Order: sequence, then structure tokens, then C-alpha cells
Amino acid sequence: MKVVILDNPAAVAHYGADLFQQQLARKPASVLGLATGSTPVSLYRELIARHRAGLLGFGEVRSFNLDEYLDLPATHPQSYRQFMQREFFDHIDIAPGNTRVPAGDAADPIAACEDYERAIVDAGGIDIQLLGIGRNGHIGFNEPTSCLASRTRVKTLTRETIDDNARFFRAGEPQPHMAITMGIGTIMESRLVVLLATGESKAAAVKAMVEGPVSAWCPASILQMHPATVVLVDEDAASHL
Ligand code: GLP
Repeated sequence: MKVVILDNPAAVAHYGADLFQQQLARKPASVLGLATGSTPVSLYRELIARHRAGLLGFGEVRSFNLDEYLDLPATHPQSYRQFMQREFFDHIDIAPGNTRVPAGDAADPIAACEDYERAIVDAGGIDIQLLGIGRNGHIGFNEPTSCLASRTRVKTLTRETIDDNARFFRAGEPQPHMAITMGIGTIMESRLVVLLATGESKAAAVKAMVEGPVSAWCPASILQMHPATVVLVDEDAASHL
């Protein structure tokens, strides 16, 4: 695990975008693993700007998102599918059929999880996986105590995660308590992992991930065992290291 401490969130986004740009230069038909949450938004903006400047293209790329709320229609503004369209896909040249987000509204979610795992394998595996981190150390929606070898599956969200994500839903609007997430084992098979964390609220989780024991209590700590993980943090998120 390589930890890079940068001055501010803009520098984190810039460094992360460099890693994606290098990956696309090496392999234009890369398979990208993508993430939602507020942290990666500035990286997406940086990639969109570089795409508009002609520095990189997504014409041959396929993507797989980490997770999606269960039972939220893909058309709901807070679904991760809509988030990805709004923040990234609608602004780049990726083919619509090449973007996958777990089917949270599938009639048979268990079959949808198995299908997702198969699709990743059929695509040749994930070349570069973008991650954020939850305050409780989750990656994707792999909450504390998740099996460290888990595959794509349905997970119940913790109270803390539900509260953290409540800011995205209108008051009184029903908020999902369950999600489909790539498993920790799935994430660990990515060839390169780029995890972003910014802000003081992530400092304890970053410390547990980097310096703590490898433990299901902090799912991100398993990345210590991954052969090619780059952790990009700003000064605030690094403040407990
Ligand atoms: C959600 C997502 C995670 C993300 C986390 C942190 O729970 N499932 O993938 O890393 O939130 O989000 P933020 O970047 O907004 O702090």
C-alpha cells in the first residue's frame, strides 16, 4: 500500500486523474471500477476536463460501479446509476452499453449479483478500481464485519452509513437501508486500486486502514494485502497518521 499525502482535495483529484490517464494511455480498452460518494466527484470533473482537452478518451472503456441501493429504481435521482450519469457518463464518450451499475431494482437481486460477478470476469477483470472510504472504514457498501473474501451480494447498511447518506435524500423521503455491493474479494482482484480520502471526518478511518490490524472491523484494512493500492489523502484525512 502506497500512501500519498497531498496538500488539499484538489491535489488529490489531480493525482488520481493522473493515475487514470496513465492507465488509459497504457490500455485504451481498460476496465474501470468506479465509485460514488462526494469524494470522487472532483476526480470525475478533472477527467471530464482532460477529455474535453483531448488528453484522454473513453471510447473503448468498460466500467463497473461498486454498488447500488436496493429497491431504488434506476431512474431515482439518488440512485447511483443517476449519480454516475449526472457526474460523469453524460460528459464523456463512453458507450452507454459499456457502463454497468449493479441492478438494485432487479426482481431477483441474488441472481443479479451472480450476473455482475460473471460480467466482470467476462470483461477480463477490473484494471483500475476507484474507491472512497466510509467513516466506519467501509469500501463500496462492505460494512464492518463484512467477510474479507466476500463477492458481490446484498448488504444491510449500518445506522452510521444511513445517517451519513441521509443528506442526499429530501426530508421524509424513504431512504434505502440495503444495497448491492461488489464484495471485498471482488475489489481485491482489481489490478490497481486508487482510494481517495479527504477531510478530517475520514482521519480515523484512514488511520485504521493504514496503521491498524487487518480486520473485518475496518474492511478497507484488507487493502494492506493488495499488491498495488495507492491511497491518496489530503492533510486533513492524514492528520491521525
Ligand atoms: C457511500 C459509498 C462509498 C463511499 C462512501 C463515502 O457509502 N457506498 O463507496 O466511499 O459513501 O462517501 P463520501 O465520499 O461522500 O464521504
